[in-house]
Amino acid sequence: MEFSINAQPLEKVATGCLVVGVSEGARLSPSAKHMDQLSGRHISRLLKHGDLSPKPGRSLLLHGLPGVACPRVLLVGTGSDRKLSERDFRTVVRTAVQALDGTGAANALFCLTELGVEGRDEAWKLEQLVLTAREVSYRITRVADVQDPACTLKNVLLGTPETMKPAEARTLIARCQAIANGMALTRDLGNLPPNLCTPSYLANQARSLGRSWKLRVQVLEQRDMEKLGMGALLAVSAGSRQPPKLIVMQYSGAPKSRKPIVLVGKGITFDTGGISLKPAPEMDEMKFDMCGAASVFGTLRAVAEMGLPINLVGVVPTCENMPDGNATRPGDIVRSMSGQTVEILNTDAEGRLILCDALTYAERFGPDTIIDVATLTGACVIALGHEAAGLFANDEKLVRELQAAGDYMGDRAWPLPLWEEYQEGLKSNFADMANIAGRPAGTITAASFLARFTRSMRWAHLDIAGVAYKGGKDKGATGRPVKLFCRYLIERSGH
Ligand code: BES
Ligand code: MN
Ligand code: ZN
Repeated sequence: MEFSINAQPLEKVATGCLVVGVSEGARLSPSAKHMDQLSGRHISRLLKHGDLSPKPGRSLLLHGLPGVACPRVLLVGTGSDRKLSERDFRTVVRTAVQALDGTGAANALFCLTELGVEGRDEAWKLEQLVLTAREVSYRITRVADVQDPACTLKNVLLGTPETMKPAEARTLIARCQAIANGMALTRDLGNLPPNLCTPSYLANQARSLGRSWKLRVQVLEQRDMEKLGMGALLAVSAGSRQPPKLIVMQYSGAPKSRKPIVLVGKGITFDTGGISLKPAPEMDEMKFDMCGAASVFGTLRAVAEMGLPINLVGVVPTCENMPDGNATRPGDIVRSMSGQTVEILNTDAEGRLILCDALTYAERFGPDTIIDVATLTGACVIALGHEAAGLFANDEKLVRELQAAGDYMGDRAWPLPLWEEYQEGLKSNFADMANIAGRPAGTITAASFLARFTRSMRWAHLDIAGVAYKGGKDKGATGRPVKLFCRYLIERSGH
């Protein structure tokens, strides 16, 4: 899907459809009013007859509107007369794209940036329009022969935002396309079946990403991890036939002297629970246990395409969590790369085990900031549902920055505490720590485990168990939190 800025007056635009907003009380947006006049108040009459409920999410496609050259006009409800909420604005965009998908309109002019959104400016509307439209047009690439037809809407024209120069708008569009491309990659990787998306597959993906986007890519093999003493990571992969990988991807957009931001993503390509085997229902969804890793891939792709002036490193520990004769047992004690020993009481708490060694490894990049991202705990889904990622950091400012980035993008994260008191539950009689605490505050105790490995760094942790994918009839990866990361990195780059 391509986006461009419209410079033509409304009645002169050669496009398949004009998309305009209509609010309650039959109030017409400026463009809708314009067309209403051209058509001899046709739209007003239609609304009077009650043919469109102007709620966000509703729309009405009109053909051959008298006096209007464009073959179609799509009226989209925008709700009450006041400024739209952020959520409603996205709904309006989503509705418009969905309504046009499958019609003969391959091009359309979206007159939607003229709508007011509470607390947000022109740039925000433009960005959200592009990102939301791209998200709606995404299709799962099926491994089976049958493919869903692609979105038929190919070109979207956008009204020139009043306060913005066309060149500025074009830059924003290009940036959002890069972010959308990153999200699509994240979703593609997440959606792949676990028999194809193995640790080796991810390593090859990293290599090909490196070739396309000039990233320095390095893959550590099992023997390298053994030499480094990554006993925690190796304990997780011990029960699998698939060799583990530790993938490092480096993007250099700033002078070498500038400390990098490091993203560490959990890459469990399938989580059976290991010997602490998970119950059967919905176990297939544990193919999404590499969505943290996938979001690191997607963010690196986006940042490279945007060409941000920062240094960014992606570190992805990836393996399978399987039960076999060589699998780790509950009660086993391993030594992590940091030297700290861990009593593994539950082999299903494996994410923290691969992450702790990856975090220790990442220290060597001398990070300015290190952020790990993981589908870490079912408890996070209980706490925050599917709306927000759990957010932790050992630095208050970092919490605020990441939360603001998520708010801006509608890719939200919500802070949870990391008080020392929570460390109590991780005590072990046999090792420096256990890998689980009791049932209470499972998301926090998992984060507290990771905190023991990041004391020397400015660190944040995002638990994306509830937001990285959807279950049920909409089953699939969401591409979160690539938008949050991109916004944070754009802000950090000072642009
Ligand atoms: N990958 C799971 C977490 C998860 C659960 C993600 C549900 C998405 C949906 C993780 O490895 C796990 O199994 N965590 C355990 C931890 C427990 C054993 C302390 C959990 O949440 O049950
Ligand atoms: Mn698990
Ligand atoms: Zn897991």
